[in-house]
Amino acid sequence: MGTAVGSWQGATLAWVLVLLAGAGALENGLARTPTMGWLHWERFLCSTDCALEPLSCVSEQLFMQMADLMVSDGWKDVGYEYVCIDDCWMSLTRDHQDRLQPDPERFPSGIRKLADYVHSKGLKLGIYGDVGNKTCAGFPGSYGYYDLDAQTFADWGVDLLKFDGCNYGTQDQLAEGYRNMSLALNKTGRSIVYSCEWPLYMRPMQKPNYTEIKHYCNHWRNFADIYDAWNSVKNTLEWTALHQDSIVDVAGPGGWNDPDMLVIGNFGLSWDQQLTQMALWAIMAAPLLMSNDLRHISPQAKWLLQNKDVIAINQDPLGKQGYRITKDNNFELWERPLSGGAYAVAVMNRQEIGGPQIFSFSTSFLGNGLACNPACSIQQILPTSEDWGLHNWVSFLNTEVNPTGTVLLKVVVIGESPAEKPVMNINKKPSPDIL
Ligand code: GAL
Repeated sequence: MGTAVGSWQGATLAWVLVLLAGAGALENGLARTPTMGWLHWERFLCSTDCALEPLSCVSEQLFMQMADLMVSDGWKDVGYEYVCIDDCWMSLTRDHQDRLQPDPERFPSGIRKLADYVHSKGLKLGIYGDVGNKTCAGFPGSYGYYDLDAQTFADWGVDLLKFDGCNYGTQDQLAEGYRNMSLALNKTGRSIVYSCEWPLYMRPMQKPNYTEIKHYCNHWRNFADIYDAWNSVKNTLEWTALHQDSIVDVAGPGGWNDPDMLVIGNFGLSWDQQLTQMALWAIMAAPLLMSNDLRHISPQAKWLLQNKDVIAINQDPLGKQGYRITKDNNFELWERPLSGGAYAVAVMNRQEIGGPQIFSFSTSFLGNGLACNPACSIQQILPTSEDWGLHNWVSFLNTEVNPTGTVLLKVVVIGESPAEKPVMNINKKPSPDIL
């Protein structure tokens, strides 16, 4: 993890890197791959009554418990690192020096102590603020206090800021606010991942300028809040596919599109739908921020969220976001270019009636015809790990997919040299039909 650019020399270096990269990403050295962690919002919302709901109110105890479990239950080992507080952590008023302060009943030890605790576990702490006058839940916003709030977060040892866009005033104030908070965080000299919702609030009035947004933010929400429901996951995917021409190319190391939290391990998604969320969040190079209760999570959901092969696709160092190649009746075919000329491929069945359906497609669809040219090996990653063997540029793949489920594949190209010349494997499922 790099350090934030605080000095003049550091800033100059950052600009050189920006010019070399040519992408204009926020060069604070952070989020080189999509952020992984846990965020309280979708599961715990704004539960503030600890007398009524002692186990689920937004309190220091909740975050300490999640931090403990992230280490003891293997989450940290597979890459989940940031324990993030969302809205409703604050006191309704600032302190006598105008600084934000946590609710004294629910965070009696203060955020500095909580950050120390999280750091002692080898994890990082995320916090939440808002660009406008008030947060979405009505707590104090940062408008007029960007420098002070950034410094307060840095003094506390915070490592990520989710900056919401409620109650922002004019469009100019929204944009200025997001820019100023980015600069304020940078000025503190602390490495703080900057998670924005700028394009989400901007889009109804104005088309977002993603080059500029990437210059200021490490990731950014584009679309409505995720719910623990298939409709919500489905709509998020559809929105992303419909806007892929304007949002996919901008994503890369240092700046990512954020389709919102993973809701796997909760109540609303069937197993197949959970597979779809995990597979497609990997294809989309999305931040993997789980919002679930790590104290009560099924072994199945844990297996999926901790699946190293899927995480490796999500965290692929090439840092290219995937896209939908085609939508054919009820099937969608997505791919993501990976390092080494490989591709991740997702076949999703959107049909919500009947049983498993077979989707047949030619490998020539993949990677603009290059993914299996002249040959490739295919590994199925989800729903289960299976070796599909060797195929070539004229193979047809028959993929059986459950309703609302997804089959995720990794396709590795094999070169033409005699040593690597493939032997077609016709015994492995699905059998390749040679044209
Ligand atoms: C929404 C935001 C959610 C959550 C909520 C808190 O605007 O998109 O992710 O942070 O505010 O009030």
